[in-house]
Amino acid sequence: MNYLTKHLFAGYHVKAIENQKDKVLGQGAHGTVYSMKGNFDLCIKESNKQGVSRKWRNEFDIIKNIFNQISTYDNVHLNDYVRIACPLQFIETVAQCYMLIPRIFRADNDKSNNNAIHALLGFKNHHKIFENRGESYGLEEIEKFYNNTEIFKKVIYELGVVIALIQYVAKNDASDIEIIFGHEYSDELTEQCQNRLYVIDFDMSSTYEKADFEWLAQCLETVRYFPIRSKTNTRIQAVFEEFKKGYQSIAGEEFTNNVFKHYDLYNPEFSSNANNYFLRL
Ligand SMILES: Nc1ncnc2c1ncn2[C@@H]1O[C@H](COP(=O)(O)OP(=O)(O)O)[C@@H](O)[C@H]1O
Ligand SMILES: [Mg+2]
Repeated sequence: MNYLTKHLFAGYHVKAIENQKDKVLGQGAHGTVYSMKGNFDLCIKESNKQGVSRKWRNEFDIIKNIFNQISTYDNVHLNDYVRIACPLQFIETVAQCYMLIPRIFRADNDKSNNNAIHALLGFKNHHKIFENRGESYGLEEIEKFYNNTEIFKKVIYELGVVIALIQYVAKNDASDIEIIFGHEYSDELTEQCQNRLYVIDFDMSSTYEKADFEWLAQCLETVRYFPIRSKTNTRIQAVFEEFKKGYQSIAGEEFTNNVFKHYDLYNPEFSSNANNYFLRL
């Protein structure tokens, strides 16, 4: 499985990193992501370690731990449609920390636009622009890029596999993770310039010892990055099934059913309590 991005990389010091900060690529609750002046491959995620009601977690260690845990699953055959963006370096001071991660370029290759494309696969269509926060595409908008139903099916299956590797194998709850759609710089040098789904932002996630299935389901549905069920649209339902199938290929039937029986409960197509569903977004 090729999750690791191999870069020739010498390492930076705090001052050098400060000097390399260029354009803002995105902003989260605690951090800002910058492009780098001298390195197209990478970006810098700068986070405040302190803050109101902030329990700071070392995101670098969290991601490295996930890679360690899932490295024994090398026998899983994947097509490299989904990657966890693996950080290369972490530096901290008392108040700040910096992480160097592969920069993900927009799938449409629009270099004049710094917004990352967030893959909100739980919506049929969802093209929206959030000032400084990014841009979102729904299921159909992402599928259009692949223009191939069979490949898109594999992408979704693989997303299920990777999320189960995180939740079931690495025992990380995946709380607050995000999915962005695009490619790395090196991909632009290849003929196909393969776009992938990238899993990012692990700083709010935690490992667990005993699975709380309701919580694991909630972590996957607080923002609608992941496919949901549909009674009326067979295409959306098929995408959901594929996602679950991928998840189950890793986590097994019992664990998967336990997670998914709590997932997507407020979907208006399945529940009379539709209002609650939208409150959760
Ligand atoms: N590797 C990346 N390449 C391009 N854009 C990114 C990358 N990582 C994050 N971003 C953008 O920056 C935003 C903030 O990063 P994120 O890791 O979510 O920080 P926070 O922990 O503060 O939420 C993301 O929502 C995304 O839009
Ligand atoms: Mg974020």
